[in-house]
Amino acid sequence: MTTDLFTPIQMGRYTLRNRIVMAPLTRCRADANNAPQALNVEYYRQRASAGLIISEGSQISLSAVGYLGTPGIYSDAQVAGWQKVTDAVHQRGGLIFLQLWHCGRVSHPSMLPGQQLPVAPSAICAQGYAHTVTGTQAFVTPHELSIAEIAGVVADFAKAAENALRAGFDGVEIHGANGYLIDQFLRDGSNQRRDEYGGSLENRTRFLLDITTAVIKVWGADRVGVRLSPINPFNDMRDSHPQNLFDHVAQALNPFHLAYLHVTEWAGHDDSQPRPEFSFTQLRAAYRGTYMTNGGYTFDSANTAISTGAADLIAFGTLYIANPDLVERFAAGAPLNEPDGSTYYGGNAAGYTDYPSLKN
Ligand code: PHB
Repeated sequence: MTTDLFTPIQMGRYTLRNRIVMAPLTRCRADANNAPQALNVEYYRQRASAGLIISEGSQISLSAVGYLGTPGIYSDAQVAGWQKVTDAVHQRGGLIFLQLWHCGRVSHPSMLPGQQLPVAPSAICAQGYAHTVTGTQAFVTPHELSIAEIAGVVADFAKAAENALRAGFDGVEIHGANGYLIDQFLRDGSNQRRDEYGGSLENRTRFLLDITTAVIKVWGADRVGVRLSPINPFNDMRDSHPQNLFDHVAQALNPFHLAYLHVTEWAGHDDSQPRPEFSFTQLRAAYRGTYMTNGGYTFDSANTAISTGAADLIAFGTLYIANPDLVERFAAGAPLNEPDGSTYYGGNAAGYTDYPSLKN
């Protein structure tokens, strides 16, 4: 019998009923306190037939914010809002992990407490723009975290992980991808430190491993995933030797026996950029646990990836924006709704909870 998207799988502590994962998707529709609200409960409830939902990135502290309208996981109001989301997903028999997010330099003083500078491994300004209340503003040169401040951020991740546990999630994903703080430490285009958090592969990986260790203390490794994006240039990211770096990161994560490693093959919003040389097959071989992949997969290419062993789980992002019942549509071979890019970020129910299911 071939293994496909509908073959159940043991992932850490959980048996998933299918291998169709809802990828983390920033949608910028939290309330004024960055807490999930009724609209968000309905959105996740609609998508609960996924084998696993990974929530949109949720900032671990006030200093971790990078976008307006994104949810957090540092206040009691946010925990209460998320509790309603997890309850709704569980009522439909679903599983949901929260994605722990720190944006680092991809932020702006206007959205940070006391107009503080965004933080980063090194004082290197990203090319690009923050979306602030007064419109787009160029990124600023961030504050280089001291060793003591790095320990403080790791403690913030641990506290946020505890909050996620209180909010009823089934696990957490550490966001190490897409040019945000952890990725800024990993790649040498944004990390030029000369201390134990910069330079060698071991040193650039240290921040991720510190956070992973702290989060596992709260959750146990079998309920923690990590997300990486080896070739994504989004947020002005680059590395001189991505294959060496990410093979090293995968090997460094092996001893933890995580619930999964989630690798997005996504190479940014701008498809005109050439993709750097990179072998995801080699990365997958370097990793010894459950491997989730993502990045433009279709029903057919996802089934091929699973049946050939290239991946154990497939996370679908864009398809989940427009198809709340993606699992049922795949099962029925039904046509898919087209997503509307103009309603991805911010706004209300339009383009968020009003995509039709087969059954309504
Ligand atoms: C985005 O806003 O485009 C975005 C946010 C978080 C990600 C990736 C992309 O991890």
